[in-house]
Amino acid sequence: MSASVVDPAVKAQARELLNLIDASPSPWHAVATMETRLSMHGFRRLEECERWTLRSGGRCYVVRDDSSIIAFVVGAGALAETGFRIVGAHTDSPGLRVKPNGPNRAGRMARLGVEVYGGPILATFTDRDLSLAGRITLSNESGRLDTRLVDFDRPLVRLPNLAIHMNRKVNEEGLRLDKQKELPVILSVLEESLSPRDQFLELLSERLGCAPDTILSWDLNLYDTQKGAFWGPGDTFLADSQLDNLTSCHAALVALLDDAALNAESTAVCAFFDHEEIGSQSMKGADGRFLPDILERIAFGLKVDPEGYKRALACSFLVSADMAHAWQPNFPAAYEPDHHVIVNDGPVIKVNANLRYTSESVSEAIFMHLCERVDVPCQKYSHRTDIPCGSTIGPMASAGLGIRSVDVGSPMWAMHSIRESAGALDHTYMIKVLRCFFSSDVL
Ligand code: CO
Repeated sequence: MSASVVDPAVKAQARELLNLIDASPSPWHAVATMETRLSMHGFRRLEECERWTLRSGGRCYVVRDDSSIIAFVVGAGALAETGFRIVGAHTDSPGLRVKPNGPNRAGRMARLGVEVYGGPILATFTDRDLSLAGRITLSNESGRLDTRLVDFDRPLVRLPNLAIHMNRKVNEEGLRLDKQKELPVILSVLEESLSPRDQFLELLSERLGCAPDTILSWDLNLYDTQKGAFWGPGDTFLADSQLDNLTSCHAALVALLDDAALNAESTAVCAFFDHEEIGSQSMKGADGRFLPDILERIAFGLKVDPEGYKRALACSFLVSADMAHAWQPNFPAAYEPDHHVIVNDGPVIKVNANLRYTSESVSEAIFMHLCERVDVPCQKYSHRTDIPCGSTIGPMASAGLGIRSVDVGSPMWAMHSIRESAGALDHTYMIKVLRCFFSSDVL
C-alpha cells in the first residue's frame, strides 16, 4: 500500500474510528458506544455481583462504574495452557471538567468553573465550539437514584481568547492561561432574576427530561463539537479529539470482533480503563483491581483451580496500546534524533530503560514478529534522554498481574491537544497486528 493515497478499505476503517470518537464525547459515552458495538456482535453483559458460568467460545463483557470496560472471548484451548491475550488501552482523555458548584456569576456574565483533568494543552481549548457531555445522577419519581448519560451535542460554552490588541506578546510568549482565573468558560449573559446555578440546572433538566431539583450530582466533560476529518492529499491523515486513546480502543475492539479472535485458542481480552490520564489509581483504573478481578472471575467461571489460574497468567501476554509521538519536522529539537517516528509508517514499539514503558527485548521481539507475520512495518521510539518520558497503563497492569508486556501505539501529533492528528494507514496496520496477536501461535 502506498501512503500517498489511502485505499477504500483503509479509509473505511479510519472512518469507523472517527465515528466512534464522535459518538463518544466523554469516557462514559465511550464505554456505552463500545458496549453497543459488542452487543451487536453477540457479546453478553456480565454483572460483577452475579454468579458467572462460562464456556469456551463465550463472548462477554463487564463494565465497572460506567467508564471502564473489559470484553473477552473464552478461548477454545484449556485456560491453564493457553492463557490470556490482553490488549489494554484507556477510555479517558485530558480536558476540563465542570466543578460541583461550577455555575458562577462574573459581572453580567454566567460562567462555568472548571477543573483541569490530566494534562491537556490548555491553549487549544480556546475559541473552539465546546459542549458538555457526561453522566448525571438524579433521584427519580420513585425516590431511587438514577444515573444517566447526557450530551448537549451542540456548541454550548466557550473560552474566547483575548484579542491580540490586549495581549500583544501572545505570538512571542505563547498563550498562558491561569488555571483558576482564566479557564472558567462563558455560558451566557445573565438575566437578573436567574442565578447561574438555576440557569444551569434548567439546561440540564431540559436535556434530561427531569425536574431541575431532582439533579444531585454530575461528572461533566467539556468537548469539542467539531467532527473528525481526513486531511492531506489522498486523505492520508486524520484529525479529531481523543485520538489518544480511543484509536487504540477501536483498533483492539475491531481485532477482537474478527473471526480469528472469536475462534482463537487463547482467551482474548480487551481491557479499556478510565483514569489513565490521572495516574490510573482508582477502583476502575489500570492500577486497581479491575483487570485482576475479571481475569480471576473468568478462571472461576470456567472451574479452573487456583494453580490453573496462575499457570494461565504465566503463559499470558499484555499489549499495552497507547499513542506514540510522531516526528514533527518544525520542532526537531524536541525529538531523539535517532528515533524519529513517521506517521503512516506503522505501529511504534515504545522503549524506556527506566520502564515507563514495559517493552524489553523479548517482548519487543514478539511484537516485531507479529508485525512480520502480517506484513506490517514497525518503528521504535525512545524519548530524548534530557526530557522526562510519559507513561501509560502497561507498567501498572503488567506489574499487578506478573505478566510479560509490550508498550506500543500508533504515531500521532499534538498529543493532548483538543484536536489531535494521526495517520489513516497506521490504524489499519494496528488492527492487523492486534488481530494476529489474538489468534496466532507466535507466543
Ligand atoms: Co494516552
